[in-house]
Amino acid sequence: MSTVHVMDHPLIQHKISLMRDKDTGSKDFRELLREIAMLMGYEVTRDLPLTDVEIETPICKGTFKVLAGRKLGIVPILRAGLGMVDGFLSLVPAAKVGHIGLYRDPETLKPVEYYCKLPADAEERMLIVVDPMLATGGSAVAGIQFLKDRGCTNIRLMCLIGAPEGIAEVQKQHPDVDIYIGTVDEKLNDHGYIVPGLGDAGDRIFGTK
Ligand code: PRP
Ligand code: URA
Repeated sequence: MSTVHVMDHPLIQHKISLMRDKDTGSKDFRELLREIAMLMGYEVTRDLPLTDVEIETPICKGTFKVLAGRKLGIVPILRAGLGMVDGFLSLVPAAKVGHIGLYRDPETLKPVEYYCKLPADAEERMLIVVDPMLATGGSAVAGIQFLKDRGCTNIRLMCLIGAPEGIAEVQKQHPDVDIYIGTVDEKLNDHGYIVPGLGDAGDRIFGTK
């Protein structure tokens, strides 16, 4: 069974609360999401392996730690996941970016695929799938499955707000994928929206409603 890492950092909690406010406009919403993605990225990469290298400082030679060549990729689920890419890249600028296009059919709540483009060497990378909302879990489960179908094995999921139902579904379908989540909300409503949540993340990021 995978591990669920719930971020209890006060800065993350504070910023998520500001995003929940229905009066927070798109500009601030996007900025907060970018900042949270960076803070969460710090936690997601906490256990990356290090290796020793010889470096000569202006004072002397020494042995120091650098990342052990483990290549990273970030894979936003479109659209809303795009809002988390820049924050993560400011932390790991060399990461490659893949894109998975999925939208949730409003009637069936099932994910519908419309795009997938990954780095050529995706299967050699640790891939971090990002999407602010984990509601029924259908989109995350499908997005992760696309990656597995293309040979990727080292996958993590990073979301802002999760419903217990979505977390349980990802754990059931992908027990090898650890989940990093900003906070866990109470439940889903009859339309599959997270309660209390923050509404439709994509619409709030892009101002489409
Ligand atoms: C939202 C969200 C997730 C999905 C979560 O995307 O960004 O991708 O819903 O719901 P689920 O866990 O029940 O699948 P949406 O389908 O609204 O598309 P958008 O990002 O293009 O707005
Ligand atoms: N997608 C969203 O954007 N918000 C929700 O609460 C559920 C799915």
